[in-house]
Amino acid sequence: MIELDFNNILYAVLGPVHSISDGELNNTIANNAHICAEIQEERQQGKHPWMDLAERGIEDILGLARSKAKRWENFLVLGIGGSALGTRTLLEALKPPFYNLLPAKERNGYPRLFVLDNIDSDETQALFKLINPQKTLFNVVSKSGETTETIASLLITLKLLKKHLGKKYTQNLIVTTDKDNGFLRRLVNKEGYLSFETPKGVEGRYSVLSPVALLPAAFIGIDIKRLLQGASILDQYIQKTAADKNPAYISALINFIFDTQKHKNILVIMPYSVKLKAFAEWFRQLYPESLGKRYNIDNKEVFAGPTVLNALGVTDQHSQIQLYNEGPNNKLIVFIEVEKDKDDMVIPASVKDDSALFLAGHSLHQLMLAEKSATEYALVKSRRPNYTIRLKELSEETIGALLYFWQLNTVYAGKLYRVNPYGQPGVDAGKRATFGLMGRKGFEKEIADISDTLTKDKHWIMRI
Ligand code: PA5
Repeated sequence: MIELDFNNILYAVLGPVHSISDGELNNTIANNAHICAEIQEERQQGKHPWMDLAERGIEDILGLARSKAKRWENFLVLGIGGSALGTRTLLEALKPPFYNLLPAKERNGYPRLFVLDNIDSDETQALFKLINPQKTLFNVVSKSGETTETIASLLITLKLLKKHLGKKYTQNLIVTTDKDNGFLRRLVNKEGYLSFETPKGVEGRYSVLSPVALLPAAFIGIDIKRLLQGASILDQYIQKTAADKNPAYISALINFIFDTQKHKNILVIMPYSVKLKAFAEWFRQLYPESLGKRYNIDNKEVFAGPTVLNALGVTDQHSQIQLYNEGPNNKLIVFIEVEKDKDDMVIPASVKDDSALFLAGHSLHQLMLAEKSATEYALVKSRRPNYTIRLKELSEETIGALLYFWQLNTVYAGKLYRVNPYGQPGVDAGKRATFGLMGRKGFEKEIADISDTLTKDKHWIMRI
């Protein structure tokens, strides 16, 4: 289902300095193997609840989607960060490109799916003009139930719904939030909205296999059972596999070594598939928000974590690749390749000139894979380390496995960096400051601190 090719990080391929030798890698794998067992043990103690999401019942989601999905013209998610990126990943990876532009028949009667994860007036107004609120099911998603951006979008939505639907407006709203805590749960209890629970102890960026993203996915006809099966197959494989054959552990280790010992503190994720563009954005949240930590588990200041860049093959071969090839050798590049494209298209012989004719008869996917190999070759020539994750195809199973793979990789990496991969104090600081600036009661201290911190010297404010 998934294949990993680590050859292009090895001394034998890259020569010295920017590589790792077989021996060095094998030793490091053996020396750190204990972390795999440690994580399994912690899992039994309930310390990694996201790992069991694939085994949880989803009948409630399936039942609702089965009976209600096709009644709606639009399904609109209001959420941000981990409450939005998983949904977008599933939509883009498992539905055709431009899905929302397809006529209803080609969507098999399923609604269009929009994700509003910003508070930009232009976008919000444009989207709300585009949809008919009466024919739209709004899904407000927030684990904390308190996130400012999501609540702001909800307030706008509620006004719109009440205006168009009067008392019946509650039928157009589903809330996904914590079972007990937060403003959204209190609102659900008071107003009686239909609601789903975010799993306890699972933060947004680890919640893609929960109602957070499964509900919107089921509403557009994605087979979420198969998605979970893919995750589960990967999980079971890892559980019975020794550390030296565990690709999630080994890739976490490689990322860690290159960041901390080989001066490659930028990790580039570069899928060669337009349908994985949102996946790369999901990953760009997962790794940095989990590993980017000031303190390690011993409370020592470490400022850990690689910087993640997302790029897209082949588009970024004509932009970022110049830097990756000839700029500072400070990156480790992870390609994602899809072996088979079931909708592959043959390039026709539309002209007789040899300068174009060489392409005729090949398929676009062949060209895509050739360009990926060409990039790999150019990078290796310039001694730039890279490795490839190869998916057999894009399907619910492979996407489920890929998402699980990277979440597991992140937790292994947390052990290697000795940081807690959960929690996000750096994000929370901004959330609290926003509460202060927007006048929320109880956050007055934040306002005073902000004006003390952000002092302004007029000399350094330049006007044109
Ligand atoms: O991974 C995380 O926990 C965060 O990125 C959150 O998903 C994000 O901040 C949104 O939080 P919430 O779901 O509480 O609205």
